Amino acid sequence: MSSCILKSKSKIFFAFLFATMLSFGAYAQGESEQAEVATKGVEPGSTEGATVGGGADPAVIDAGAALFKNNCVVCHSAGTDVIVGPGLQGITERRSTPWLIKWIKNSQALVAAGDPEAVAVYNEYKKQAMPSFNFSDDEIKSILAYIEAGPASDVAASVPTTVGAEEGGPGNIGTDALGSIGSYLDIVLVVLIIVLIVLVVTLLLITSLLKNYLNKNRKLNEYDDEVVNQRFDFSKVYKSKAVRGLVTLIFVVVLLDLAWGTAMGIGIQQGYEPTQPIAFSHKLHAGEHQINCNYCHTTVYKSKSASIPSANICMNCHSQIQTESPEIQKIYRAIERNRPIEWVRVHNLPDLAYFNHSQHTQVGGIECQTCHGPIQEMDVVYQYSPLTMGWCIDCHRETPLNTEGNEYYDNLVELHEQSSQGAFTVSSNGGTECSKCHY
Ligand code: HEC
Ligand code: HEC
Ligand code: HEC
Ligand code: HEC
Ligand code: HEC
Ligand code: HEC
Repeated sequence: MSSCILKSKSKIFFAFLFATMLSFGAYAQGESEQAEVATKGVEPGSTEGATVGGGADPAVIDAGAALFKNNCVVCHSAGTDVIVGPGLQGITERRSTPWLIKWIKNSQALVAAGDPEAVAVYNEYKKQAMPSFNFSDDEIKSILAYIEAGPASDVAASVPTTVGAEEGGPGNIGTDALGSIGSYLDIVLVVLIIVLIVLVVTLLLITSLLKNYLNKNRKLNEYDDEVVNQRFDFSKVYKSKAVRGLVTLIFVVVLLDLAWGTAMGIGIQQGYEPTQPIAFSHKLHAGEHQINCNYCHTTVYKSKSASIPSANICMNCHSQIQTESPEIQKIYRAIERNRPIEWVRVHNLPDLAYFNHSQHTQVGGIECQTCHGPIQEMDVVYQYSPLTMGWCIDCHRETPLNTEGNEYYDNLVELHEQSSQGAFTVSSNGGTECSKCHY
């Protein structure tokens, strides 16, 4: 009776152990998936000097591409697809340049003046007024040059023309390396597991062969018979002291690791994903429609804060697009009442810490995604990075400073190379001193 209770107790004990290990496995895997996302989220650098058609100056085409991506793609493709307005492929053959300049500056004026081409296209597209653009003639010509150059120039154009989005910006190094080590370990693990399974199967085959052989060809005495034909008794395995000791040790280590992780996680908002007052989607705007981050976060390359767009920025497009949508009506109501939209803040460092966007995006050349994750795939923004002091400092230790062509650093780098082997990182330049981040 007592042995029976003991048995069921150990069964519960082992079932519990097993469940804990499984959930830990899932947790670790979740982390490695995140690391993968981080690697994928970083956009590749632009291919400089990509070949462009049309013979126009590539710099002009690039400028045109940027203007087009920022202002026109939401309603037009450079190919033949109709989005809100017509596809613009071949537009310079259909219309004269002076007409196009007038149209883009103020299409409504042309329509009102009774220009036949303007009236025709306006009626064809159900009298949706295209917004006016306050561009110079040269800017409009650059857009036309981009449209003329066609899809071949899209290699260069598909990369947002943000400053500092250079090849393999320093921020990518850490995540790339981590990602590849991670996948390498995965492969080793899978191979090991396969080898183990093959071993177990082979051993089982051998024992059953031997058993058959002995039973058939030998006269076994009672003792041998018991050994050879014994049933495999699982309870013997888990009652053995060695196995119990080992399993308990693993269990304690796992528990400690989890407890440590939780303790370090106190006050961390990683994963925080509040519901916003308007169902604004970055996946739709920054992903599908490829609107540049700094079209809305206008100060992210210039100042400490990235800024959240005002309702007026939304109206650049939503005075025309989806005007009937209840979500868009909320923007109109905010403007009528002269109140800002009450977005819920996602990222928030405590007041004691100082963080500056332009220092990282403009000067450091770090991509938004390195810190914010794949924003262009998020319907609802969540906090991707832990934003702890350790997180800031780890990156400062690992990331080499871009000192190329900056005289200010020449002496410092030389001094550094005399005293140390490693790269000249942000921390070599004092980026881990308390006063840099604390007021
Ligand atoms: C809010 C949507 C919207 C935006 C943004 C927009 N357009 Fe348009 N565009 C239209 C619509 C709709 C038409 C069709 C004419 C009409 O209804 O006014 C049109 C027509 C045109 C035409 C005339 C096409 C033809 O076949 O004659 C040109 C050229 C043009 N747009 C260029 C541009 C350029 C360049 C930009 C960016 C600087 C731009 N548009 C931005 C909506 C837009
Ligand atoms: C069309 C405008 C628009 C574009 C383009 C845009 N955003 Fe946003 N972004 C917003 C608005 C509005 C919010 C506030 C609502 C929310 O959190 O979803 C926001 C919030 C954010 C936040 C969270 C801010 C907080 O509260 O802590 C981050 C981070 C962010 N954006 C990054 C980006 C990045 C990176 C890109 C480019 C890939 C981008 N945004 C493109 C409008 C935009
Ligand atoms: C550069 C142009 C542009 C700007 C600026 C812009 N949007 Fe949009 N928005 C779009 C386009 C294009 C769509 C998709 C329309 C479609 O798919 O029918 C869209 C769709 C939406 C939708 C979904 C509407 C629905 O019911 O399907 C919401 C909500 C929205 N935008 C909110 C905002 C908010 C809030 C802002 C300001 C922070 C903003 N947008 C700024 C171009 C823009
Ligand atoms: C080195 C990491 C890092 C990079 C790169 C970065 N951010 Fe941030 N971002 C942060 C941190 C940290 C905060 C929280 C700041 C605070 O609370 O003071 C933040 C906050 C924000 C906010 C909320 C408003 C604000 O200013 O506090 C927006 C919007 C935002 N980031 C957009 C962007 C965009 C767009 C880019 C790329 C152009 C970008 N960020 C690049 C770390 C980064
Ligand atoms: C992904 C990497 C990365 C992360 C994460 C990061 N930084 Fe940085 N940081 C940099 C780089 C690179 C520079 C150097 C920019 C330059 O001057 O070229 C820098 C510079 C700085 C500087 C200026 C240092 C000096 O010597 O003048 C401060 C202050 C700073 N970071 C604060 C922070 C804080 C606070 C956080 C965390 C909330 C943070 N950083 C997170 C990469 C990072
Ligand atoms: C690269 C930037 C950076 C540097 C360098 C840095 N810190 Fe911090 N520190 C932070 C950030 C960001 C936070 C807020 C983190 C959080 O809320 O978890 C923080 C938080 C703290 C806190 C408050 C902890 C808490 O739980 O509220 C203390 C204390 C602190 N730092 C002390 C220091 C000291 C001492 C040094 C110098 C040895 C230093 N820090 C250097 C970025 C930095």
